Formats: sequence, C-alpha cells, structure tokens
Amino acid sequence: MNRRHFLKTGILGAGTILLGNTLSWAGEIKRDVPIFGPDTKTVGGKKHTPFIKAPKKVKAGEWFDVEVEVGHYHPHPNTKKHFIESISLWIDKLEVASAKFKPVQGAPKARFTIRINKPGKATLRAFGYCNIHGLWVSFPTEIEVV
Ligand SMILES: [Fe+2]
Repeated sequence: MNRRHFLKTGILGAGTILLGNTLSWAGEIKRDVPIFGPDTKTVGGKKHTPFIKAPKKVKAGEWFDVEVEVGHYHPHPNTKKHFIESISLWIDKLEVASAKFKPVQGAPKARFTIRINKPGKATLRAFGYCNIHGLWVSFPTEIEVV
C-alpha cells in the first residue's frame, strides 16, 4: 500500500465513521469512493463542503445561474500537492454540469447555467473532489420550479 492509497482508504474510511455519512441516495451515484459531508461543524468539513448559491424559485424551462464554491465556509489549500480537482452539480439524481481545476491558479469556484423543465420541487447538490481528502457533498438546496 503506497502513501496515497493509505491516505484515501485509511483517513477517508475513518472520516466516514466519524461523520456518520449514510447518504442513502448516494448509492445511485456510480462512484467507488466514500462520500463525505455535508459538514460545517469541523474545520475539515468547512474546507471541503461545497456551497451552492441558487435562486429559491425558477420558471420551468428557463435558464438560471447556480454558483458552487469549495472553500466558502473556510478556505481550502490550493497548492500543487493539495487542491480541489473538480466540482459537479446535480439536479436530483442527475449530474448536469462539472468543472475541473488545476492547482495554484485555479480557484475551486464555478458558475453553471442550467434549467429545469419539469414544474415542482427540485433538489440541487454539488460535489467537490479534493485530491487528498476525497469526495464531499453539499447540503441539499431545494428549488421551486413554477
Ligand atoms: Fe483537502
């Protein structure tokens, strides 16, 4: 077991237990890595939990902007060895957009323009992937689609 594998499996495994992460819907996502968060009670959680800025109400079929940032609650390191590699945005259980970042110059923040065609309630979630601390989910953000 190399150092990187140990960090991902050892520390992330412990993190899952500590955070008690049992997101049942996460089983729908085709990922073979644990999902952490949302957590804004610990510094580590604040560094990794994505923040979503979105309107509370939108019109069905109309484009609107959603901003996602990792580091909103507490700045995350952005060095060549430790940085946020990507952010993805989901509507309910469908991934609709993603952005990749390079270290140092690339801030882990993105603005996505999306639309929801079906009236009703929709839930946005964002994921941020840290190259050392793994995959983190945001708090769900409910949107009313009229
Ligand atoms: Fe990290």
